[in-house]
Amino acid sequence: MAIDATSVTLRNVAKHYGNSTAVEGVDLTIRAGEFVSMLGPSGSGKTTTLKMIAGFEAPSTGQITFDGVDVTNIAPEKRNIGVVFQNYSLFPHLTVGQNVAFPLKMRKVPAAQRDERVARALELVELPGFEKRKPDSLSGGQQQRVAIARALVFEPTLLVMDEPLGALDRRLREVMQLEIKALHDRLGVTVIYVTHDQEEALTMSDRIIVFSKGKIEQVGTPREVYDEPATEFVADFVGESLAISATWDGNALIADTLGVLAVPGPALPAGPVRVLWRPHAIGLTERPDADSKDLHVQATVLTSGYAGGVVKARISLPTGDEGIVSITSVGVDYSPGATIDLYLRADRAIVLPTAAGKRGGGMSETDQRDDTTAGRRG
Ligand SMILES: Nc1ncnc2c1ncn2[C@@H]1O[C@H](COP(=O)(O)OP(=O)(O)OP(=O)(O)O)[C@@H](O)[C@H]1O
Ligand SMILES: [Mg+2]
Repeated sequence: MAIDATSVTLRNVAKHYGNSTAVEGVDLTIRAGEFVSMLGPSGSGKTTTLKMIAGFEAPSTGQITFDGVDVTNIAPEKRNIGVVFQNYSLFPHLTVGQNVAFPLKMRKVPAAQRDERVARALELVELPGFEKRKPDSLSGGQQQRVAIARALVFEPTLLVMDEPLGALDRRLREVMQLEIKALHDRLGVTVIYVTHDQEEALTMSDRIIVFSKGKIEQVGTPREVYDEPATEFVADFVGESLAISATWDGNALIADTLGVLAVPGPALPAGPVRVLWRPHAIGLTERPDADSKDLHVQATVLTSGYAGGVVKARISLPTGDEGIVSITSVGVDYSPGATIDLYLRADRAIVLPTAAGKRGGGMSETDQRDDTTAGRRG
């Protein structure tokens, strides 16, 4: 049965705690029925943003609307949201069944219907027949699944989940991912999902919101975020990439000892840039296509380790850049000190402005020197 889904808008939302800023300048529209993931490093503001959407925290500034209606100051229980939070624990004095039935009781669902819906929700999270157990007799992962059952049981129009699968093993995690996704497809509910796991975000979401330092770094479909990262931070955080530093002079990309790179020029102002390749754009040992324009680079292995099916090698490039590549080819010598041939696909290069504080930080040194000169002149 399809239900109405809620659309969510955040307008210039910020959250300050005393002098520190947890979230700033968040502008976001989540469409009804959309599955959106929030991805970002620890402390980047994901939970804070989710808490403001759920109503557990009030924004310091800005506005939140559901279906166009201002809910900025509406109590959480009036928002019809299913929530699973990182530390949002079960009621310890209630049984599992009573915990899951709680939102139904709050909504005055008749007792006769409650039992059946609780049983179904528990089946969904692979805990059939756990009604009589107490939360403290369950493992962490089982408690988490009860919390998911409790969030789903009343068929909310918006579901917000903060690392709901964090404590689960890989198999159960994958089963639950599919269950949550199937539930989303079946009910059409809007889902806002926080995860550290970029693979989980890529496979489950319609769109991904990448957070960094309390701000949104990029919003896009999994493909956009992966293939067209807006910044090097996004490229680093969502997926693997190999990057080299280069200079864009407006006509050509010049990379130290490699000279001019035969990759399409970016629509960027002249200056230092980073040129990135995703793993699928890196060929190893054998040139994929004889007359390709791929960049041949000889890399030196620094360290390497077996990672199940592939070998991950930390490598150093002639430009002085370092990176990690996954080696799947048989017969590649990946021992430390070995040289490996990389073929970087010219047409798959991603060119981005150099991130502040990364390589090219020499810029500020130059700026300072210029300031000094200017000071002397004046
Ligand atoms: N109640 C609070 N008082 C003071 N600072 C807070 C409070 N809650 C969060 N913060 C700060 O706000 C920032 C963002 O925290 P938040 O919990 O939103 O991060 P997160 O992205 O969810 O991180 P994680 O992945 O570790 O869960 C952090 O620097 C955190 O220390
Ligand atoms: Mg968090």
